[in-house]
Amino acid sequence: QPNLKNRHFLRLMDFTPDEILYLLELAARLKADKKAGTEKQTLKGKNIALIFEKSSTRTRCAFEVGAFDQGANVSYIGPSGSQIGHKESMKDTARVLGRMYDGIQYRGYGQELVQTLADYSGVPVWNGLTDEFHPTQILADFLTMQEHSTKPLNQIKLAYLGDARNNMGNSFVEGAALMGVDLRLVAPKQFFPEQALLDEVTEMAAKTGAKITCTEDVAEGVKDVDFVYTDVWVSMGEPESVWEARINLMKPYQVNSELMQKTGNPDVKFLHCLPAFHDDQTTVGKEIAQKYGMNGLEVTDEVFESDASIVFDEAENRMHTIKAVMVATLGNE
Ligand code: CP
Ligand code: NVA
Repeated sequence: QPNLKNRHFLRLMDFTPDEILYLLELAARLKADKKAGTEKQTLKGKNIALIFEKSSTRTRCAFEVGAFDQGANVSYIGPSGSQIGHKESMKDTARVLGRMYDGIQYRGYGQELVQTLADYSGVPVWNGLTDEFHPTQILADFLTMQEHSTKPLNQIKLAYLGDARNNMGNSFVEGAALMGVDLRLVAPKQFFPEQALLDEVTEMAAKTGAKITCTEDVAEGVKDVDFVYTDVWVSMGEPESVWEARINLMKPYQVNSELMQKTGNPDVKFLHCLPAFHDDQTTVGKEIAQKYGMNGLEVTDEVFESDASIVFDEAENRMHTIKAVMVATLGNE
């Protein structure tokens, strides 16, 4: 059994395939234990800092509930109210928090910021989303896919539609390479992941048998897949002004019933990291739906609410997988 004590989790490629599998198994065990009422606390007396420079519902709550379940204490440090960035550098913040906390979660902008925290804090640092990567999300996605399929991950076919150059697209490239997934990134070509990232994972993909394909052709991309995945077309930190051009480019990649049909798989399942623009029940969703006359953006309400949609199992699994990351890197078992 791999030993991940005191390790950082900044991106998926920080870990080997065996280590990722171990985290998924640990998450499944912690989930079963919690449901059975037999969970053992391995983080008693630990103090955990949760830095959020961007908004969050799932990630914050997953870290908090996961930590509480395991007996740890947390401090939430939100986008305003601390000295971070305005009056104090990340390097200094790292050295301060490292003196008080046993582990640090960071959600924010550049990957170099979470790297600096890891380099200077002296305690395990976990990436809760940067502009470049969202590694803990992929653990939840893989656990959910395992729960909804009889096939191991290295036999799974997955289509990711929309912005394949964002933190989710990038993280799927790494996750697929590590676990041997047949991943199709279906997007306008300017939203394919950077070639440098694709090159970086080539060797790993060859070892695990992963197939990573970038295509603009929706029918070809989604053919025979087990899972259809999408994410928002405009990510946190991007300016509002990109919406119009983005919608025009991304429209053909909307996940709707016709697209689900094109997979040819009656059992195909739909996933989304959430939050999703699938209706007009949010301020942003409403404004955009009215302006562009669309029923949902990256996914229609019909697909989102269909039996194929497993997005809330996926959201729950954020907690079990994030708990596994904390237990594996910081817990005393
Ligand atoms: N999927 C996800 O990271 O959600 P939050 O932004 O709510 O944390
Ligand atoms: N790509 C999205 C993911 C949100 C969980 C964003 O960065 O806003």
